[in-house]
Amino acid sequence: MRTPARRTAAALAALLLCLAAAPATHAASPHRHRAATLDDLARQHGRYFGSAVDNPELADTAYSDLLGSEFGQTTPGNGMKWDATEPRRGVFDFTAGDEIVNYAHAKGLKVRGHTLLWHSQLPNWLTSGTWTADELRAILKSHITQVVKHNRGKVFAWDVANEIMNEDGTYRQSIFYKTLGPGYVADALRWARAADPNVKLYLNDYNVEGLGAKSDAYYALIKQLKAEGVPVDGFGMQAHLALQHGFPNDVRGNIRRFADLGVDVAVTELDIRMILPADETELAQQADWYGKMTSACLAVRRCVGITLWGYSDGHSWIPSTFPGEGAALPWDENLGHKPAYDAIRNALTAARS
Ligand code: XIL
Repeated sequence: MRTPARRTAAALAALLLCLAAAPATHAASPHRHRAATLDDLARQHGRYFGSAVDNPELADTAYSDLLGSEFGQTTPGNGMKWDATEPRRGVFDFTAGDEIVNYAHAKGLKVRGHTLLWHSQLPNWLTSGTWTADELRAILKSHITQVVKHNRGKVFAWDVANEIMNEDGTYRQSIFYKTLGPGYVADALRWARAADPNVKLYLNDYNVEGLGAKSDAYYALIKQLKAEGVPVDGFGMQAHLALQHGFPNDVRGNIRRFADLGVDVAVTELDIRMILPADETELAQQADWYGKMTSACLAVRRCVGITLWGYSDGHSWIPSTFPGEGAALPWDENLGHKPAYDAIRNALTAARS
């Protein structure tokens, strides 16, 4: 039998072992029995840290388990897009989106809805048809209304309109713009609001993280929408960055100017790709950029959170979309941490809340 003294010694040894095994952040939170996750750290600043997930990836249990424990938010990578949700006119299929919402809520993750209106991944029946303005307006209204109603209370935000601007700040010549003119954006926001009075309504795009013609166009549009009383609550910066394209210009200042318009800002699809093979220098530069994006968000109160577009190089849209490029995420194919993971962690730890 153990004497009390021995028991104390054993307990002390166990404690020392535990402390030795734990990362430094552990010492600051003695009540925790696991290291703080990225989402735990983000929460200390009132932000979330999330990752997108595509339906087939849920079957990779190592991946989906880590998604559920490390992150506080997710976005369906494809499951809520128009081709998935309304594959035939007026026939709605919520299976893929529901699967992700159910998974997320079981794990305690909140969900961003993505996306109601986009020029890409539209069903054939829509792109191959010829529509009058009245017909297309009715189609768009019905789509937005049904999808938003179905997800009411399940998602906290919607990317209502995705990628509606060109690089030079003019409107993209999508089927919606060509048929309906620029007023379709305000209509879409109003229909979404009518279907869910509580969800945050976002405009979302890439190459808008820094100051420039494209972000200027969104700045002007959101200012105008606000002045007209159109419901717009947030601006999503996808942040699909690439080392070879350089770091965007004044991300912090850009986030701040949108916040000053009275909208939330979110980093919605962060990944930082490079030309393969990746070397140590590139991975260090990538880490630096991940840290800078994280700090820029934390610097502005209304930047509400950061979402990675998948979190490991094993599940990333980059290699198939940009052949020869990849290594874009903070975890490698084996779910090991890359330098980028530590950089995010450091940025989350260093910032004052
Ligand atoms: C991507 C998905 O990750 C891919 O699986 C799909 O093949 C194409 O779309 N901007 C967006 C996202 O808003 O919806 C895109 O997602 C990536 C670029």
